[in-house]
Amino acid sequence: MVAVKTLKDGRESREILLAFARSIKERDLVTYEHSRRVAVYAYRLASKLGWEHGQARDLALAALVHDLGKTWIANEILHKSAALSAEERRKMQRHPVIGARILIGCDVDPFYVETVLYHHERWDGQGYPSGLRGEAIPLSARILTVADVYDVLTSQRPYKEPFSSEMARERIGRDAGTSFDPTVVAAFVELLDTTPNFLLPCQPADLDQLAEITLLQLP
Ligand SMILES: [Fe+2]
Repeated sequence: MVAVKTLKDGRESREILLAFARSIKERDLVTYEHSRRVAVYAYRLASKLGWEHGQARDLALAALVHDLGKTWIANEILHKSAALSAEERRKMQRHPVIGARILIGCDVDPFYVETVLYHHERWDGQGYPSGLRGEAIPLSARILTVADVYDVLTSQRPYKEPFSSEMARERIGRDAGTSFDPTVVAAFVELLDTTPNFLLPCQPADLDQLAEITLLQLP
């Protein structure tokens, strides 16, 4: 008899994603903490756009492993503080495909695969890996992109000081219609304007105390 591979059910998929999140924590704490903040931002933004709790939670789980592919990128590239060479950038830009392939290998729900695969696509078609444009990019990935960039902008990196939330809001607003889906940006800007202390603390201990983290049952 031929064995038929079946997709994992919802709970199994979520457990696999949480296991991968823990593996990211072991490999690269900076990426893990970034991913936890992005998960919360993505959850808030999806909720703002009218997604139900279960859908928003699944997006948060995808956010938690969105950079899973980076665990297979060499340390010299991953932790390089200077600008990447063209070849290094090409290798780094493989991470959405690597992450998606790992998830496909685990037969998780395709929702997670496509969200991870397309989180660096741009609304104007200039992103990677596929150069998808506009609504051809899954909405989950369009939401994740905004949450991801907001956290990158507001975080300290070896090569830059953190932006204030206000500066990040301005930058994301400026790139609506080029990098980002304008509808998603409009919701995000409204969310920022109506949520005091939207910006999450960078300290893991503080992050653990957030009710939203418990709600999402993130590790
Ligand atoms: Fe990424």
